[in-house]
Amino acid sequence: MSDPKPTIYEADPHTQAKHRILRAYLERWFPILDKQAQRVNRRGHRLLYVDGFAGAGEYEQGIPGSPLIPIETALGHSHQFKCPIEIRLIEKRADRAQHLRQLIREKKAKLLAPTNLIIPDPIEGDCEEEVRKLISHCNSSGHSLGPAFFFLDQFGYSSFSMDLIRSILGHSMCETFSYLNWNMLHPFMADPTKHPGITKAFGGDEWRDVIDRTGQERENLFRRVYLDALRKRGGAKYAYPFAMRDVNHRVIYWLFFCTNKFEGLEQMKRAMWSVDRSGGFEFSDKFVSERSSLFAYGDAELARDLVAELAGQVLTVQAIGEFALAYTPACNYLDALGRMEREGSVRPINPPQNRRQGSFGDYPDMRIEIRRVEKTTQGSLFGV
Ligand SMILES: C[S@@+](CC[C@H](N)C(=O)[O-])C[C@H]1O[C@@H](n2cnc3c(N)ncnc32)[C@H](O)[C@@H]1O
Repeated sequence: MSDPKPTIYEADPHTQAKHRILRAYLERWFPILDKQAQRVNRRGHRLLYVDGFAGAGEYEQGIPGSPLIPIETALGHSHQFKCPIEIRLIEKRADRAQHLRQLIREKKAKLLAPTNLIIPDPIEGDCEEEVRKLISHCNSSGHSLGPAFFFLDQFGYSSFSMDLIRSILGHSMCETFSYLNWNMLHPFMADPTKHPGITKAFGGDEWRDVIDRTGQERENLFRRVYLDALRKRGGAKYAYPFAMRDVNHRVIYWLFFCTNKFEGLEQMKRAMWSVDRSGGFEFSDKFVSERSSLFAYGDAELARDLVAELAGQVLTVQAIGEFALAYTPACNYLDALGRMEREGSVRPINPPQNRRQGSFGDYPDMRIEIRRVEKTTQGSLFGV
C-alpha cells in the first residue's frame, strides 16, 4: 500500500480516540497482568507490549504516538510493578523508524531513576516477520511469550495474516488489538488484484460472499465473517469489534480486540466505554445490537437483548455475563439481571436461602432460567 504521508503527520480525532482506548486498557490491564505474572513466576517473566506498526512515536504538535502510551502509562501508574515491562517497537518505514529510535533514546535519557521498563531500540522491519522471530525465539529458549499485548495498528488491511493472530493467541496470556480499514477495502472489493491481500487477512476466502452485497448488509456481513475468522481460525475465545466512524457516520475502520481471558474482555469493554463519545463522529459500537447506540445502551436494553437471545435457556450467572460481554455492548450485567428478576424475566433455580432478591454478583455458579414476559420487546440480532 502506498503511504504518501510525511514522517510525522497530524493526529486526527479518531486516532486520538484509539489512543484513549489503548491507554485506558493498559492502565487497567498492566497491574492485573503484573499480579498474574508473579503467580506464574516463570523464568525471565515480564509483561510484554509489542507495537507492530509503531509509526514515528509522535504526531504533529508533539502528540504522543502509540509507542509512548505504554511508557507513560507504566511510569505514571500508582501500582507498584514487581514485573519488568518490556516494550518492543517495530516500524517498517526507515524515516519513521529512525525518528522513533531517536525519540525513545531521548525519553530513556530523561528518566531520572531506574525503572522497571525494558525498551530495546525500535526495530526497522516488517511486523509479521519480526513478531514471528520473537515467537520462535521464545519457543526455542523456553521463555513464555505471554503475558503479552500485541497492538497491530496497520494502515490498511493486509499487512499481517490471520495466521499471525493464531500464532500469537496460541500462547498463554496473549492478546491482540488490531486494525482493519473498511474504507480502503470495500470500494475495491471487486478488484481481483486485492483478493490475495483480503484472503491473507482472513486466512481463507469466505469473505467473497460479501462481494455481491451492498450497503449496510455488506458492511455487517463483512464484519461478522471477519469476527468468525478471528474466533475459528485465529483461535480467539473472545473477539470484540469497535468501529471508528467519520463525520458522516460512515465506518472508517474497525479495531478488533482478541483475548482468551474473560477478564481481559471485561477490561477492554470498560476501556471502550470510557472513551469520550462526544464529537462529530461516533466511536460507536452501535452495530453491535444494530438497533441501539452505545450512548443509549443501559440495563433496559441489555435485559431486552438477553431475553431476545436467551429466552428458554437455563444458564449460570457466569455464562450470562460472558454472553453479555462478548455479544452485546454492555460491560456490566449484574444490574440488568436484578432488573430482570424484578420483572420476572429471570428465575433463579434453587437459589441459596439467604440470598436477597436481585443479587447475583456472589453467585456466579447459580443457574437461572431466562423467560419471555409480556412487556419485553422482542427481537435483537447481534452483529458480533
Ligand atoms: C497507522 S500507522 C501507526 C500509528 C501508530 N501505531 C500510532 O498509533 O501512533 C501504521 C504504521 O505502520 C508502518 N508500516 C506499514 N507496513 C508495515 C509493516 N509491514 N510492518 C511494520 N510497520 C509497517 C507505517 O509506516 C506506519 O508508520
